Amino acid sequence: MSDTLSPIDTAKFVAAKKAVEFVEDGMKLGLGTGSTAAWMVRCLGELVRDEGLNIVGVPTSSRTAELARQQGIKVISLDEAKWLDLTIDGTDEFDGDLNLIKGGGGALLQEKIVATASDQMIVISDVSKQVEMLGAFPLPVEVIPFGWQTTKALIEETLVSMDVLGQHSTLRMNGDAAYVTDEGNHIVDLHLQRIGNARQLTLVLNQIPGVVENGLFIDICDKVIIGHGDGRVTTRDILSGEESEDQIEFAESENIFADLE
Ligand code: A5P
Repeated sequence: MSDTLSPIDTAKFVAAKKAVEFVEDGMKLGLGTGSTAAWMVRCLGELVRDEGLNIVGVPTSSRTAELARQQGIKVISLDEAKWLDLTIDGTDEFDGDLNLIKGGGGALLQEKIVATASDQMIVISDVSKQVEMLGAFPLPVEVIPFGWQTTKALIEETLVSMDVLGQHSTLRMNGDAAYVTDEGNHIVDLHLQRIGNARQLTLVLNQIPGVVENGLFIDICDKVIIGHGDGRVTTRDILSGEESEDQIEFAESENIFADLE
């Protein structure tokens, strides 16, 4: 399909390209964060510049806000938008019910607020993120800096009575310092291996003082678009239960690759 794009980038790109087919003129969109979502922002930018698509975007991180502006997309805050038509975002894992683990890129808090404030959420992914049961990817939990060690200990203590395999957690680092989110918080990654009852776990975690939010997205995602390295995309809709497959064609010379390193 492409001499310049690796199979994994091709998979992310075609998933993004398919997802923007669901965007309509006049929509207020939630713009996800991460490498897959970045493809989607580039695809949207192309539609705005070349086809005059009229949309506004609410970014889920400072990184996405910067990219969206560079792409010529009008960026507004969630408070200005109030409610969104559609959010398109990546994921770290998704299961058969389209429940997700997100936050690998550290933006789970804004991502969850934005996706929840949307009529619809479409997740774009490559096939490697599809799992039978959530939990192999460490579950990110955003905690406030005050007393974070105590909060981490409380989380580990709580995990003992949860249906999970591992109870170990680590503070996410950025070099030698603790990672800091856009809201000035830290992230504790939970190495659970397997989450037996994600619905229960998300509620329990959010009851712990110091926890701001966790990366489990339960009953939020409506549709997943899975990209493949050969340019195929599989679209699965949770409500209708329908699954369809398309082949996405694109030219090597598309503008969208111009800014790739
Ligand atoms: C950002 O905080 C995450 O939720 C991302 O959506 C997720 O980590 C997927 O990122 P990639 O598309 O880079 O894998």
